[in-house]
Amino acid sequence: MKKQIRIAVVTGASSGMGKEFARQLGYFYKNLDEIWVIARRKERLEALKKQCRVPVRVFEGDLLKKQVYKEYYRSLKAFCPDVRMLVNSAGFGKSGSFTDIAGEGKKIQTDMVDLNCRALTRMTQMTLPWMSRGSRIINLASAAAFCPQNGFAVYAATKAYVLSFSRALGSELRHSGIYVTAVCPGPVDTEFFSVSGELTDPLKKLTLAGAKEVVRKALTDSRRKRSVSVYGAGMKAARLGAKLLPHSLILKAEEFVTK
Ligand SMILES: NC(=O)c1ccc[n+]([C@@H]2O[C@H](COP(=O)([O-])OP(=O)(O)OC[C@H]3O[C@@H](n4cnc5c(N)ncnc54)[C@H](OP(=O)(O)O)[C@@H]3O)[C@@H](O)[C@H]2O)c1
Repeated sequence: MKKQIRIAVVTGASSGMGKEFARQLGYFYKNLDEIWVIARRKERLEALKKQCRVPVRVFEGDLLKKQVYKEYYRSLKAFCPDVRMLVNSAGFGKSGSFTDIAGEGKKIQTDMVDLNCRALTRMTQMTLPWMSRGSRIINLASAAAFCPQNGFAVYAATKAYVLSFSRALGSELRHSGIYVTAVCPGPVDTEFFSVSGELTDPLKKLTLAGAKEVVRKALTDSRRKRSVSVYGAGMKAARLGAKLLPHSLILKAEEFVTK
């Protein structure tokens, strides 16, 4: 009988934290046969083949369109893999007031919802039937999930969805031995800011973390079956603050800082 291949799947693997997950996974899970990577920039995904310990299979495509899901599903059916890990890292943010961003382009905010929430949910739904006891799901939420944010309204709301969804899914799946971790970093030094707009907030600049460190902690927390992974003392304090303080007060403070 043909041996079932053991794989990990990483969306948004062409840069930033997704790329770092693809690189580090081979060290955390020594018995992976392949890593399947998904993003739009094919040449970046192809370059990963030289940077990963484990053979890489490339799925080039836009997660806002149907085609890449069709190809992914076709491959799942063809290989019947044991998916040991799914990392949903594809996502983007756009900073600015809701009305200003709406003026920049009709689809930016709805695309943010579609990629950060719908695509992540769709990938999870498609992949779960191929996961088994001991498998892991890692979803990239953000510290922006902890409370509403002026000037990042839609992005923070999408990440609140990811955090809430991940925690409930993890609770539902615990009996089947599949563990879900929501990763909630503060600002991380990646290409994220070339899309969202430059990082200007001095407080955020001060807490800027490295992708390598955030990903290493996320993989360690996932191994420890933690439902939430928060990197750094600053973000842990922010999480606690968001639990203790009224969100109306935080919004007022944010308004004051961003003026
Ligand atoms: N950097 C931060 O400060 C920070 C903080 C907290 C949470 N996060 C979250 O962490 C995740 C990873 O972000 P990052 O910092 O690593 O940013 P990044 O370097 O910009 O990476 C984003 C990834 O998403 C992929 N992507 C974007 N749109 C896509 C689409 N329509 N279809 C398929 N793939 C798409 C990009 O690939 P292609 O362009 O090649 O398609 C890229 O690989 C995101 O969910 C982000 O919201 C980031």
